[in-house]
Parts: sequence; C-alpha cells; structure tokens
Amino acid sequence: MDAKRIAAERAADYIQDGMVVGLGTGSTAYWAIQRIGQRVQEGLRIRAIATSNASEKQAKELGIPLISFADVQEIDLTIDGADEVDPNFQLIKGGGGALLREKIVASSSSKFIVIVDDSKLVGRLGRFPLPIEIVRFGYEATIHKLRELGCEPVLREVEGKAYITDNGNYIVDAYFGAIADPKELESKLNMIPGVVENGLFVDMADRVIAGKRDGGILEL
Ligand code: 5RP
Repeated sequence: MDAKRIAAERAADYIQDGMVVGLGTGSTAYWAIQRIGQRVQEGLRIRAIATSNASEKQAKELGIPLISFADVQEIDLTIDGADEVDPNFQLIKGGGGALLREKIVASSSSKFIVIVDDSKLVGRLGRFPLPIEIVRFGYEATIHKLRELGCEPVLREVEGKAYITDNGNYIVDAYFGAIADPKELESKLNMIPGVVENGLFVDMADRVIAGKRDGGILEL
C-alpha cells in the first residue's frame, strides 16, 4: 500500500465517537478523509471542519457531517499532511496551498496528528520552499520585502497564471535553504504587511505518523 495511505489510515483510527475532527488537505489527507468517511458510513458519529474547498467537497461526498467555527471553538483532533517534518516536529506546510486554513484549524485543535510518508522526515527544515500566503494588493512590494529576509521568493503559478488560494490570495514559494530558527522566521515573516500567513507550523504537532515505502509505519 502507498506509504501516505498507510500513515493516513492509522491516524484515522485515533478518531473516537463524538469528536470534532479537523480535516487536512493534500494527497495524504485525502486518504485520511476516505477512511473517516468509511468509518462514518459504518456508524462513527463525528462532526468535522475542513481546511480547504477540496477537502470539504470530498467530505460532503462521503457523508461526513461538516460544521464551522460558528458551531464550535475547539476541535478535538486534526489530521493533516506536511511537506517537511523536523526532529522537533516543526513543520513546513502549504505545498497544496491550504496553509492558512490549515493553521487556523491546527491552532484550534487539542490534538494535531501529522501524516506523511517517511521521505518528508528531515534533519532540518528548508529544502522544500516555504509557502507564504500574501494578499494580491501590492504583492510586488511584499515580495521585495520577503527577498530582503534572505530568500528567493517565487510567485506560485499554475498553467501560466498566478495560483489563487481558497481565500483569494497569492502564494509565494520562498527558497530559504536550511532554516536555523523556524520560530523566529515564522514571526519575522508574519510581521511583513501583506503577508497573511506562512507555512511554518511551530510547536503545533503532537504526533507524527510516517508511512514507509516497505509497508512499515513509524509512530513518533
Ligand atoms: C497543503 C499541505 C499538505 O498537507 C502538504 O502540502 C502535503 O501534501 P501531500 O500530502 O499531498 O504530500 O500543507 O496545504
């Protein structure tokens, strides 16, 4: 079985009756949502908040009851993927462009389980370009300020057009190289006017489940 799917299905087993569940975004979270949908069809009673339009659509199709932050302030358990995970469980997320909603949901969760294949486990964050969500107004100025922080920022494009997030913003993929202090960089980035949020998830993950290509699993 696919390493991402192995991790995702294990994480979905952590969900218990009555929980409010945060649904992540991406190809790994996809498998978690599929398994959650299957459990719901078997009688599991949960309510869920999705981190993207794509995950919301998938959840609806599977019959997973969806709610919003108008209904609850606290999520019991969120399961989401990541682009990089360091030994201290610091993360880079946002490869799928959903980092803003993902961070809102993760920060409102009592427990946050990260699901990856083991190629995402790194000694130090930064080989994967850091996704940063920025507003469209004045984006050239925002990108200039990002460059002054010492990275090479690239406006994300899809088929020759700027990628637009579910929130109507742009994404910049910023090549920093090895990130020595993720916490410091996270706050420096969010101080720049025009930056909405960045993909550094610091001190948020409680557990990391990594599927291995040989079929094994690491629960960290
Ligand atoms: C989306 C994300 C994803 O969780 C991250 O990009 C990992 O994606 P995948 O599971 O497809 O490898 O942060 O914004």
